[in-house]
Order: sequence, then structure tokens, then C-alpha cells
Amino acid sequence: MFTNTFTPLYRLLAACLLAVVLAACAQDSGMPDSSGETEAGSEAAADTGSEAEADAADAAVAEDEEAEPYVFDRPFVPPSPPLTDLLGRGEYLVEGIAGCGNCHSGRDENGELVEGLEYAGNFVIEEPIFTAYAPNITPDPETGIGEWTDEQIERAIREGIREDGTLMGPPMAFAYYRDISSTDMAAIIAYLRSVPPVSREVPESIVNMELPPAWVEPVTEPVPDIPPSDRLAYGRYLSHTIGHCTQCHTPLAEESIGDFSRIGSGMNLYPLPFGYDWSALAANITQHETLGIGAWTDDEIKRAIVYGISRDGRELLPFMGYSYYEKVSDEDLDLIVEYIKTFPPSVAEAPAAEEH
Ligand code: HEC
Ligand code: HEC
Repeated sequence: MFTNTFTPLYRLLAACLLAVVLAACAQDSGMPDSSGETEAGSEAAADTGSEAEADAADAAVAEDEEAEPYVFDRPFVPPSPPLTDLLGRGEYLVEGIAGCGNCHSGRDENGELVEGLEYAGNFVIEEPIFTAYAPNITPDPETGIGEWTDEQIERAIREGIREDGTLMGPPMAFAYYRDISSTDMAAIIAYLRSVPPVSREVPESIVNMELPPAWVEPVTEPVPDIPPSDRLAYGRYLSHTIGHCTQCHTPLAEESIGDFSRIGSGMNLYPLPFGYDWSALAANITQHETLGIGAWTDDEIKRAIVYGISRDGRELLPFMGYSYYEKVSDEDLDLIVEYIKTFPPSVAEAPAAEEH
């Protein structure tokens, strides 16, 4: 896989990318006058910081658990439609584990998704070195991608190359999406073509920095499907390739897109998004007993993914696409949990205090 080519630059980009993703989603919580969110944020930063606190929290939780173990409960979510049902499969992925609308759909000033602006673009984030806008990806011929060919849309998603051949800036997860199977890519494109066209102009992203020559090696061969019966491989496909959980939850590395020897150990810092007075750290989701999720039950892990509630009942910051993950089928959610539980206990350094 592509790794060593663009090192310090890549790291910089990756850092921006994460900041952007998070800030984008932090928009969910509206403007900085929402004091509830602010508190949750400080807790997030504190929580991940101290082993003693984590232990204390664990002890408290353990007591609670003896009284009343948490039981994950939601209405049954049926399995994905078969791969032959391109449109159904595409809807299942895009509205679910891929969560493309988390960035690409219109939101109001409180960060709530606006009905009628699905996939019509909205999200903006300004960093010193770039300003990124998630474009309108509805089939509108003027302001969306209605005139693009399937090949052009595929190249945009896999390789970050626009229809005019130029390279996009951050923050889409090209290094992950590159390996989406050809069938699933066709399904995603079929679904994007089926959403109502919305006429909505979104400014072009501005990148004030040198981009690498490419984000990933070009895809020249069809990418095979992974059979769901291969539970671990398919769980990885859902969580890593399509859901890019591992993008946010793996420490960045000098030489590559992430230090996968410490997969899941988190600690990527998302500093002061939108002028909030908090920074957030991606949680450690390895099997570490106290700093990670080693002591969590499967039901507790599912609650965090789908409802954004931590083991101790704390509401997680609105960064992950919980409302999308809610549509992941019962059986796929099982596979995601199975896969992330393979992350061996490991610890990443929290960023230095002055970086907060
Ligand atoms: C983290 C936020 C984020 C997520 C998640 C995301 N995108 Fe994007 N996407 C962007 C941004 C920002 C751009 C524009 C980048 C640029 O132009 O430099 C973009 C560009 C695109 C484009 C090119 C459109 C154009 O007009 O240039 C397509 C197509 C696209 N995304 C599809 C998808 C699909 C499909 C998914 C889900 C599998 C997805 N995106 C997930 C942020 C995101
Ligand atoms: C956009 C970045 C991002 C993505 C993508 C993402 N996460 Fe997270 N996740 C976070 C952050 C940040 C937190 C911590 C939030 C907080 O502390 O309030 C978190 C928290 C969690 C937690 C709770 C941990 C704890 O100690 O409370 C779990 C479990 C988790 N994520 C699993 C996943 C899984 C599984 C996926 C993919 C389906 C995923 N995440 C995708 C950023 C992300």
C-alpha cells in the first residue's frame, strides 16, 4: 500500500484532516454558546488523560453493573439487501456505515440535518492552510454531480481526483475508500444518482499548501467483494475501509497514514473546534482494560457506536456519525464489534498540554 512517499506533508495533511472531520461534526452541536456541549468536551479531554480517573470510573461502573447490567436495545435492523440490489445496497451503505451525509448534507445553525438538503453540501472548515467545503453531491446537473460519469465519481471517492483531473484537499478518507469493492462502489454511485437533485451552490475548497502528487496509488483492477461469512475480514471491511473508524482512532505516524502497530489507541487531538473552549481526544478503543474498552461488554460498545453514550453514561461529543451508524444492521454491528475487539491493548501518548 502507498505509504512512504509524502511523509511530513502527509502527516500535516492527516492532522488537518482529522481536525477538519471533527470540527465538521462539532458543527452538530451548534455555536459556542451551548454550555452543555462545552462541559461534555472538557470531560472528554480529561477522561482520556488519567489512568487513575479511568480506574475510578471503572470501579463505579462495575458496581452499577452488578446491580443492573446494561442491555443494548433498539428495534431490529434487518440485514443489508443483497449485492445484486445495487440501489438497496447503496442506500444501506451511504445512509449507514459510510455516513457520507455527515459531511455532505446541509445543516442548520444548531448542527441538525435539514430535511431537503440531503447530500446538497454545507460543511465548511477554515484552517490556516486550507478551507474545505463538502460539495453538493446530488444529481443536480449544474451545482451537483449530475453530469459526471460513473468513472469520474468513482475516481473522486477512491483517489480524491475531481472530474477536471485536479487533486482534492482534505478531509475525505481516500486511503480507506480506495479499497471499497467494485460492487459496493457501483452501489454507492447508483444510490447517489437516485437522491433528489438539489440546486445549491457550494464554494470550491481552497488549499493554501502543496498537495502530494496523489493520495493513493491508482486503482486499475476491479476490487473483489469480501464475503460476510469471513467474519473478521468483513468486519474490517465495514469498520476500516467503509466506516474509517480506524482513521480517527489510530495515532498518526510519520511514515504512513497511521501507526497501525497501535491500531485503535486513539489520542488524535481535535483542538478548539469553532472557537469552543474544549479540545477532544479520540478515545482509546483497544482492549486495554482501563484506558481502552477491554472491560466493556458488547452491548456497551454498541451503545457507544449507535447512541453516542460512553460506558459510564456520559454523552459522547457529536463527532462520530451516530445517527448513521444507527442504521447499521444487527448482524453488521456484531461484526464491527467483533473486529474492533481484536485491537490488542496499546496506548498512545496524549498530545502535549501546550497543544491543547
Ligand atoms: C469528512 C467529511 C467527508 C466525508 C465523510 C465524505 N466526504 Fe466527500 N468530500 C468532502 C470534501 C471536503 C470534499 C471536497 C474536497 C475538495 O474539493 O478539496 C468532498 C468531495 C467529494 C466528491 C467530489 C465532488 C465534487 O464536486 O468535487 C464526491 C463525489 C464525494 N465527496 C463523495 C463522497 C461519498 C460517496 C462519501 C461517503 C462514502 C463521502 N464523500 C464522504 C468531505 C467528506
Ligand atoms: C470522525 C472521527 C471518528 C470516527 C470516524 C469514529 N470515531 Fe469513535 N470516537 C471519536 C471521538 C473523538 C471519540 C471520543 C468522544 C468523546 O470522548 O466525547 C470517539 C469515541 C468512541 C467510542 C467510545 C469510547 C469511550 O471511551 O467512551 C467508541 C466505542 C468508538 N468511538 C468506536 C468507533 C467505531 C466502531 C467507529 C466506526 C464505526 C468510530 N468510532 C468512528 C472519533 C471518531
